[in-house]
Amino acid sequence: MMNSADDNHSAGNDSAQNALVDWFRASTQYINAHRGKTFVISLPGDALTSEHLKKLIADLTLLHTLGVKLVIVHGARPQIDAALAAAQLPNDYFAGVRITTPESIDTIAAVVGAQSIRLEALFSAGTQSASSAPLASTRGEALMVSRGNFLTAMPIGIRDGIDFHHTGRVRRVNAKAIDARLNDNALVLQSTLAYSLTGEVFNLTADEVAGQIAIALQADKLITLIPQDGITSDAGELIAALNPTDAAVLSARYSQSNIDAQRQLGSTLDACVNACTAGVKRAHLIGYQSNGALIRELFTRAGAGSLISDDSLDSLRAASIDDVAAILALIAPLEADGTLVVRSRERLETEIDNFKVIELEGAIIACAALYRTTPSFGEIACIAIHPSYRKLGLGARLLQALNEEAKTLGMTQTFVLTTSAAHWFIDQGFVEGALSDLPEQRQALYNLQRKSKIFLRVI
Ligand SMILES: CC(C)(COP(=O)(O)OP(=O)(O)OC[C@H]1O[C@@H](n2cnc3c(N)ncnc32)[C@H](O)[C@@H]1OP(=O)(O)O)[C@@H](O)C(=O)NCCC(=O)NCCS
Repeated sequence: MMNSADDNHSAGNDSAQNALVDWFRASTQYINAHRGKTFVISLPGDALTSEHLKKLIADLTLLHTLGVKLVIVHGARPQIDAALAAAQLPNDYFAGVRITTPESIDTIAAVVGAQSIRLEALFSAGTQSASSAPLASTRGEALMVSRGNFLTAMPIGIRDGIDFHHTGRVRRVNAKAIDARLNDNALVLQSTLAYSLTGEVFNLTADEVAGQIAIALQADKLITLIPQDGITSDAGELIAALNPTDAAVLSARYSQSNIDAQRQLGSTLDACVNACTAGVKRAHLIGYQSNGALIRELFTRAGAGSLISDDSLDSLRAASIDDVAAILALIAPLEADGTLVVRSRERLETEIDNFKVIELEGAIIACAALYRTTPSFGEIACIAIHPSYRKLGLGARLLQALNEEAKTLGMTQTFVLTTSAAHWFIDQGFVEGALSDLPEQRQALYNLQRKSKIFLRVI
């Protein structure tokens, strides 16, 4: 018979095992939600010095194994600081940004390159060496890591009279090339070095590189590993979720700080806010000093970091009479330059049920309308995206929503008249037609002076 100490021990084991089984079962929903999604993960240079680095690599490999497409961006700030000090080269910062002098760029390139190789080696080692169990492949195949010239850089130039020399920023991201590697089941590894069209090497910040890649890929998540557990309130409590507006206020506040870590957090927050504003659904800040925080944030309801998200970009909805003023303000410049036909307030009020809008934090940033011309024919009109939110796929989403509505209403074809967006409609699957292709009553209303082109799409 067991003594009571053994009983307690065994009961403890049982409850730990039950908790594990419960968690594993509950994780199904997260595994399904993350499969096939694209995450851009930023590992700052200090994360590479963490005692948990190998476990972090194992966790990232686990994500890859579960079907998450991963782009890992790494920095090397403390490693560069140490190398420049050892070589007695200048090591100056201005407003938290390194000044990369011509004398130091070769040393910096060598240090960053060495960190890339180190990470590539860790990912290639299989997870045998990174954790207690193999994860990547049952056949022991190495996880494919892809590196390349995915970015084009340009100099940040001279600011406040200071020449930043080889400190650069992102000019372009070759999203197509990155996507191709991800679709080929490779993990993409990107450092903070990038090249200009003139062939020069530039040193960028990990925050900017990760943020710009996330935007270019329209990634599902931008995840930055930070020294803190996440964002904390003034009372020191972890803030699990915040919207981009609040994050922007905090970013501005931290950026003013004299404390390096806070200023760094300010710049990370800024990159997250930019990404969320430009269509990245979620940005997470997760502590690299806390073992397993990445897994807890992604696979448990409680989470383990701070999430910045603006799900209101999802709020594509039917317009209501309350939106009339905002729609008028959105389309006024386009009416003024002749892109759109002028609509009076009265007309818009009468026709408001034809409109769909996209709302961002209470502001209408896009609109479009569907008019039923005949039982089977619908006209798409007044499609307008606020200039700050173009090229994010919102126009295509609105068109898709109108298409679905047209289908629901039993229409078989839609058409649009446009003077300035012909190629965009062609990209969306429309085909140019003639006036005679339109229903007769619409032909009669055609404004000959506008000389609009006619595009049609079968539903
Ligand atoms: C045309 C419009 C609705 C597109 O909306 P959007 O949300 O930016 O479009 P998407 O993100 O779905 O697509 C963007 C792509 O279309 C291209 N595009 C945008 N406007 C274009 C135009 N007028 N002609 C050709 N291509 C255009 C962009 O260059 C981008 O291509 P890229 O990714 O290869 O660089 C938007 O630019 C707009 O509001 N324009 C002003 C109003 C207008 O012209 N309305 C149509 C009148 S009927």
